[in-house]
Amino acid sequence: MNKKIAVIKGDGIGPEIVTEAMKVLDSVAEKYGHSFEYDQLLMGGCSIDANGVPLTDETIERCKSADAVLMGSIGGDTTTSPWYKLPPELRPEAGLLKIRKSLGLFANLRPSVLYPQLAGACPLKEEISAKGFDMLIMRELTGGLYFGEHKTEEVDGVMTAVDTLRYDENEIRRIAVKAFEVAMKRSRKVTSVDKANVLDSSRLWRRVVTEVSESYPEVELEHMLVDNCAMQLVKDPAQFDVMVTENMFGDILSDEASMITGSIGMLASASMNETKFGLYEPSGGSAPDIAGQNKANPIATILSAAMMLRYSFDMSEEADAVENAVNKALNSGYRTGDIMSEGMKTVSCSEMGSLIAQAID
Ligand code: IPM
Ligand code: MN
Repeated sequence: MNKKIAVIKGDGIGPEIVTEAMKVLDSVAEKYGHSFEYDQLLMGGCSIDANGVPLTDETIERCKSADAVLMGSIGGDTTTSPWYKLPPELRPEAGLLKIRKSLGLFANLRPSVLYPQLAGACPLKEEISAKGFDMLIMRELTGGLYFGEHKTEEVDGVMTAVDTLRYDENEIRRIAVKAFEVAMKRSRKVTSVDKANVLDSSRLWRRVVTEVSESYPEVELEHMLVDNCAMQLVKDPAQFDVMVTENMFGDILSDEASMITGSIGMLASASMNETKFGLYEPSGGSAPDIAGQNKANPIATILSAAMMLRYSFDMSEEADAVENAVNKALNSGYRTGDIMSEGMKTVSCSEMGSLIAQAID
């Protein structure tokens, strides 16, 4: 197959980790007889420097004309980078929110898996980590607090800021359907996370998710309040299969879920629209403190590329091959600094990429 991939390397460690994911994709192409054509595009701080804005309309159009988008990370140090002196709508993050909205990427899939080889890096007690876990957070990505009305104004002489949490039933229904669909392919359990004891948007969320569940009788549905969920994630992460939740809750809970795997450098993500089109990026940020040092962990980006093969290109055998290659590199004892433990071999970002690319079969 011939596929066109829009590539956004971005800022910080983005260029390093995406280069390694491309190395792995090239190895897949060679072994499986595909051809991947890359269209490299700017977004975030590098786009601000080149074009004055974090995302241009041309970049959006070129992403739309590709079969999928592979992304690294955007942004810089928020206290020292000049990008953060700009008004909010011109900062790197605004580019990311705009691309999600422009491409209609409402479903953000963030798998969180405890690799047995990395159990030592899990900060939880051994009696908890010993059970392992494999969950998928389905975060709503184009609604809620992020995209409701924002304003800051003086009201009766007092500075006042407002962010609005708004959802309509259609936005809730389509993300709930995605959650139940993937649950059918996994362990058939959905935990819907909300704050229905306080928020109207959550009460509607709960009602619509319950309605959708009626079409999936094989899937067990459980509702959980977000504060309790934050606690359950560290108490008993093995209880979760698919978790579905609104944008802001999902942002926070997915960072928590990544931390208990030992390193955010291992976590892939996919952001999808209604079709097979998606944007694939690691869950972690641009890590400006280690940028340019060939130290970053490229595995999350490589696993994101595997998700692209699986979800956008229907290449499940190839996706399995990438995941197996990651396991092989870990089993052979290779580690980047973030997942290093005693007795293992430290490798650089580019060495890890090469090891995984060579292990594709
Ligand atoms: C994420 C990030 C973004 C978000 C930021 C960079 C806008 O934290 O992808 O989780 O909050 O969605
Ligand atoms: Mn986040």
